[in-house]
Amino acid sequence: MIGTDVAQVASLLSDGQLAAIPTETVYGLAANALDPQAVSEIYRVKNRPQFNPLILHCASIDDAKKYVLEWPEEASLLSNAFWPGSISFLLPKSRLVPDLITSGSSHVVVRVPNHPLTLDLLSQLDFPLAAPSANISNTVSPTTAQHVESTVGSQIGYVLDGGPCSVGVESTIVAFEDSSVVILREGGISQEDIVALGIKVKGNTRKQIQSPGQLKRHYSTDKPLLIVKNIQDWVHQNPYKKAIALLYEEKTTPLPYILLSKSYNLGEIANSLFSGMREADQSNAEIILAEPIKPEGIGRAIADRLNRAQF
Ligand code: TXA
Ligand code: MG
Repeated sequence: MIGTDVAQVASLLSDGQLAAIPTETVYGLAANALDPQAVSEIYRVKNRPQFNPLILHCASIDDAKKYVLEWPEEASLLSNAFWPGSISFLLPKSRLVPDLITSGSSHVVVRVPNHPLTLDLLSQLDFPLAAPSANISNTVSPTTAQHVESTVGSQIGYVLDGGPCSVGVESTIVAFEDSSVVILREGGISQEDIVALGIKVKGNTRKQIQSPGQLKRHYSTDKPLLIVKNIQDWVHQNPYKKAIALLYEEKTTPLPYILLSKSYNLGEIANSLFSGMREADQSNAEIILAEPIKPEGIGRAIADRLNRAQF
C-alpha cells in the first residue's frame, strides 16, 4: 500500500508493523524503536546483519535527549542550527534504548528528520522510530516512494509517499570528542556547514569501527560503476565497451548519459545521484561511468557514495 495517510501509518507502527517513511535525505524503513520484535523485522526485510545498528528518529530535540545520557555543547549548537535536518549524533544511550537498535553498543545514533509528513507522524507517536534506509542491504538507497514500493514494498504495511527526497544523500553522522566533532559519515550537512558554526572538526583517527555500515561495499548498482578521470579518454581506450555516463553538467560525450545537474550544482547532483544510479542500472549499458567529483561541501558525501559503489 502506498499513500499519504499518516494516521494509518501511526496505527500500523503502534501495532508493531513496518512502514516506509519519507525523510529529506532518503526513505527510511521504520518500526517502533522500543519494540525489539518490530525492530527485528527491519533486519529481516532489509537482509541486514544484526551487527549493523540503526538510527533513532525523534520528533524534536527534547525527545532525542530522552534517549541519550549526554548532550555536549556542540550537540546543542548543531541541533539548534540544523534540526530538523540531515545530521545525526552518536552519543551514549539511555536505558530506554533496546540493545537491538545499537547492536549491543553503549552508544546510539539519533536525529530529527526534516519532512512534514514524518514530523507529523512522529508527533502522533509515543515512541521514536528506528529507521535505516529503506533498501535491501548494500543496494542503492531509495529517494522516492516508488523506489521503495518496487523493492521492499510487498513486505511492509505501508509506504508513506512524501515525494522525492529534497537532499538525496543520507545524513551526516558525527561523534563528539574533546569539544570537537568527528565526522563518521559524510552526508547532507557538510564539514563546511559545521565549521561555520565555530565548531572544530577532528579527523576520524579512531581505529575502532565506529559506523559498521561504512565498512564494506555499499550503495552498489547491479552493473559495475567505474570512476574515471576523463570519460572521453576512457571511451577512446575502450571503444567496444557499452557504457553509460553520469554527468555533472551539460557537455559533449560520445556515450548515452544521465544528467545529474545542468551546471555542476552539487546540491542538484546529490539530489539526483541515487535515482540516476538506478536509471543507469536499468539501461542496456554494461558499465556505469562517472568522473571524480569536487570534494567540497556536499560533494564529499557524493564522492563517498560513488567510491563505495565502485568498490
Ligand atoms: O539519512 C539517514 O541517516 C537515513 C534516513 C532514513 O534517516 N538513514 C540511514 O540509516 O542512512 P542507515 O541504517 O542506512 O545508515 C546508518 C549508519 C550505518 O552505517 C550504521 O552502521 C551507523 O549509521 N550507525 C547507526 N547506529 C550506530 C551506532 N550506535 N554506532 C555506530 N554506528 C551506527
Ligand atoms: Mg543505508
